[in-house]
Amino acid sequence: AGTSFKLSNGVTIPGVGFGTFANEGSKGETYKAVTHALRTGYRHLDCAWFYLNEDEVGEGIHDFLKENPSVKREDIFVCTKVWNHLHRYEDVLWSVENSLKRLKLDYVDLFLVHWPIAAEKETQEKPKIGSDGKYVILKDLTENPEPTWRAMEKIYEDGKARAIGVSNWTIHGLEQLLQFAKVQPHVNQIEIHPFLPNNELVQYCFAHNILPEAYSPLGSQNQVPTTGERVSENPTLNAIAQKGGNTLAQVLIAWGLRRGYVVLPKSSNPARIESNFKSITLSDADFEAVNAVAEGRHFRFVNMKDTFGHDVWPEEARAAISA
Ligand code: A2P
Repeated sequence: AGTSFKLSNGVTIPGVGFGTFANEGSKGETYKAVTHALRTGYRHLDCAWFYLNEDEVGEGIHDFLKENPSVKREDIFVCTKVWNHLHRYEDVLWSVENSLKRLKLDYVDLFLVHWPIAAEKETQEKPKIGSDGKYVILKDLTENPEPTWRAMEKIYEDGKARAIGVSNWTIHGLEQLLQFAKVQPHVNQIEIHPFLPNNELVQYCFAHNILPEAYSPLGSQNQVPTTGERVSENPTLNAIAQKGGNTLAQVLIAWGLRRGYVVLPKSSNPARIESNFKSITLSDADFEAVNAVAEGRHFRFVNMKDTFGHDVWPEEARAAISA
């Protein structure tokens, strides 16, 4: 998996990144997965405050580098993200310092605003949850994220992050951001897989020198679409994989890389961590066959209203419901 891309500021980013969102969340699992991924050859880790395991990622990087003196810190691309309750200027600055401490690093390669939603904090360690069980939305900062972005720019200028960007942003949000940004976002990390190809948003990003990154590139296995079919159960996709003697995950990762963006598979299973990292060649015909499966699909697993009490994608959500 030697593919890499260049961000608009010239920074090189490995095309396959290892997702560290712990499914089980049990202590030690992230450490085991991260050290196994690094030993397998992954040189890109995708982290976040929200995953509550940056400590374990940091220990994993630290121990791996100690065991492998020929690999240097600068050989590993580390991304992390600021959560919704830390969007105020000072809190964003606090968040990057907090993540750096936990990751045992003095800079990250990429720092992202995790969602285009600002929420109230209980403390810096904890989002505030309202009596309805949902996040307490900060309307002003959600509608105008300029102070948040100014803090991101400060972090970039101070060299605490070699690149900055956003995650889960729509075209509408990016248009607004590009109007006031002095440092343009280098990345937009979004959900992309054949049931949510996100073509329009991906094209918008390319047109504005923003590199897309695909999370849940295998189709968010744990979520069952309303249609009842998971990406992993699609017969056409499975036939493509079987015919070439590959796993479906390998086909989906190759499809994303060929479409020109970063893919972030995650697994806590050693054999799958390894097989996901083996690059395969996807023929033109197979590439087109995956595109054909993706055509017209628009299934998004996260229900924003349920999660945050705020609809991030009103127009797209409507399109998805009516599709
Ligand atoms: P596991 O950790 O047991 O391997 P997503 O990032 O799309 O939401 O999906 C992540 C899920 O996909 C994880 O739960 C992971 O489970 C599973 N997964 C990762 N790699 C593979 C693979 N090669 N084949 C099947 N499932 C996989």
